[in-house]
Amino acid sequence: FLLQLAPEAILRQILRKPPENRTEDDIDIVYEEIMNIKAFSHLSNTVKKELSAVIAFESIEKKSTTLFKQGDRGTCWYIILRGSVNVVIASKGIVCTLHEGDDFGKLALVNEAPRAATIITNEMDCQFLRVDKVHFDRILKDNEASIVRLKECGKEVLILQKMSMKQQQSKKNENEPTNFKYMVMAGTPEKVIDYLLETRMNNNNFEEQFNKENLFEDFLLTFPIFITWKHMTNSLLRHYKIDELNFRQMEDYIVDNKKRVARFILLWFKISVDAFLNCKTIWVFLDELIDLMEKDNLKHDNHFETELTSLRNIKETKEHYNVNLEMRGTIVYKADNSNSVRRMSNINEALFAQPPADTDKIFKLTAIKEFDEIICRLYCADHTYTTLKTTMDTKAEIIRNQAAEKLNLDNSVDYTLVELKSDNERYIFNETELNLATTLSLNGRIFISHKDHLDALTTLPEQEGATVGSIFKLESFSSQEIAYYLTNHTWKLFYNIHPYEFIYLVFGRHNFNDITANLDLCRRNFNELQYWAITEVLLEKSLSRRVQILKKLIKIAGYCKEYKNLNSFFAIIIGLSNVAISRLTQTWEKLHNKVKRIFTQYESLIDSSRNYRRYRLLLSKFDPPLIPFVPLLIKDMTIVHEGNKTFVDQGLVNFEKMHLLAQTLRMIQDCKSGSFQIQSPATLSMKKMNFPNVLQEYFDQIKVIDNQKRLMQLSYCLEHRKL
Ligand code: CMP
Repeated sequence: FLLQLAPEAILRQILRKPPENRTEDDIDIVYEEIMNIKAFSHLSNTVKKELSAVIAFESIEKKSTTLFKQGDRGTCWYIILRGSVNVVIASKGIVCTLHEGDDFGKLALVNEAPRAATIITNEMDCQFLRVDKVHFDRILKDNEASIVRLKECGKEVLILQKMSMKQQQSKKNENEPTNFKYMVMAGTPEKVIDYLLETRMNNNNFEEQFNKENLFEDFLLTFPIFITWKHMTNSLLRHYKIDELNFRQMEDYIVDNKKRVARFILLWFKISVDAFLNCKTIWVFLDELIDLMEKDNLKHDNHFETELTSLRNIKETKEHYNVNLEMRGTIVYKADNSNSVRRMSNINEALFAQPPADTDKIFKLTAIKEFDEIICRLYCADHTYTTLKTTMDTKAEIIRNQAAEKLNLDNSVDYTLVELKSDNERYIFNETELNLATTLSLNGRIFISHKDHLDALTTLPEQEGATVGSIFKLESFSSQEIAYYLTNHTWKLFYNIHPYEFIYLVFGRHNFNDITANLDLCRRNFNELQYWAITEVLLEKSLSRRVQILKKLIKIAGYCKEYKNLNSFFAIIIGLSNVAISRLTQTWEKLHNKVKRIFTQYESLIDSSRNYRRYRLLLSKFDPPLIPFVPLLIKDMTIVHEGNKTFVDQGLVNFEKMHLLAQTLRMIQDCKSGSFQIQSPATLSMKKMNFPNVLQEYFDQIKVIDNQKRLMQLSYCLEHRKL
């Protein structure tokens, strides 16, 4: 009987049988047929065989029949055998049409999320192969094609890659079965936001989900690279207002959708409290959202009560923050004629008590804000100067105009601001650059110069730096005490850096219109310490005292390492590895063998081979909180930035790059977790109670030489080249 039927009809008949009624022959016939289907081409023969036993046939005669709706639970995966279907998204309408050989409907199955689109037949007599969820989970979840490309209006908008949750740095139990999710490889910002809302903010799993994988966190840590805050909040609002688009038949979906937007905000706040608190766009948006939600709450039987309470709590936190910020006031910094950028004390000191008060921990009140002020000097070619007080986020163009006015210069546009470094190198500031003073090199100074006369600029005598050593002033402090001070100081600088500052620095500050002052000060502190170590050794003429200084510096570095302050540790060790110091054979020879061995050991930690493997191993042995080697974080991110495009495939954001950048940013967050409390040295007696002030004063005022040529000259003066 079977042979009398056309082969296609036989196939249909088998595919209509429930799996338990299919014979071996039936399965072989199906197997032969599905060999040639595009959607299965990547599967192994064994998997195809298994599939042949369960795959079903479905046909729909009428055009415009809905197979399933956006927001439905996913129950099966489809492959189109004949005909075509439209993919319809609530806020957008028909986004694309799928044809024979295409497949759809696996996103919901793999992500355990609601359907991302409604599927409607586009012609009469459409035929499909269907794999139900139980079979999909058993046979295909592990084997299914790992890349999915979604299109809208003929253009790709989202490229997803299936990943096992264990592949991620998962915090989950080893024995749990492998769980898959589609991670974003590339996508338009809008579609990625939609995708996050739909697949990662669902009722029962949104917080738990967040602990298992990094997609949402990575998105939030990197989004300023590809969209503005305004764009982000507008997308969320658009998503929230889905009901304005006349989809009344989807009541449940609409309510769920609104809740997802609220959950997005709650998690966003949790992940980046301080960025959130400081962004005005967010507050305007939050007010609008709470307003809309209050109205919806009345309309939908108090469905949004829980979410509303949490959003109102955030608003309260913000109000509390504002009060604290008012108490804190504007902080004025000074960057005039010394190396350091120093805070001037016109603030409520209680807020800066040490250890930081609890409110500071949440609000980072000691961090530099864009409205804080900085006093800096701008020099002219004849070395006269003018002093300006501007906010941190004042652009170079405005500073130039103000300076030109004060100096009575005509046509300010003919002038430019330039950093003149101690080695005579010039860096011309872009007009849109902000917080110039904090970005200067150690002995660099800002000059205002006619654009045609840049070559005429000469360095100020003070840019040479120190002429006599000063470390003897610290004689009464032990190496451990100095390391203790340096560590507490560096911790505050490191703690105040917001992860976005790394992004602004690596991608170019002027692209973001935001300051990097906290990161600048931390980098500056690193350089200061490095050149301080070099300068102090080279300015000591007596060989025996030079040996003592070297020993003391190595000991300070050692204690910094013990205190998990790897930033200061590296600063000193890199300083002492500078060729101007390492070539001082006689000095090193006089150093005790034990100390020399320790130094060699320390030096091996800064070995850059195999991507700083020794350092990374050391780091992995420490528990947070700790202070990492900050310049390496910048280097890591720069390598990722330079080696990977930000946009791929006609303007899609390259999320593989974002994941890589976020790895470093997450590590930074991790280093800051917990309270940083180090034991004060036993030697710190009562008489030294004011020690932090003494040391702070010392380090605030230190002068260093940062010109390598000059350092080499000093080095040669101390020990002549051997013939
Ligand atoms: P799923 O979310 O399970 O159900 C709807 C399906 O539509 C979805 O899986 C995809 O397979 C398919 N689809 C095709 N194009 C798109 C698109 N641009 N956005 C969302 N889903 C799409």
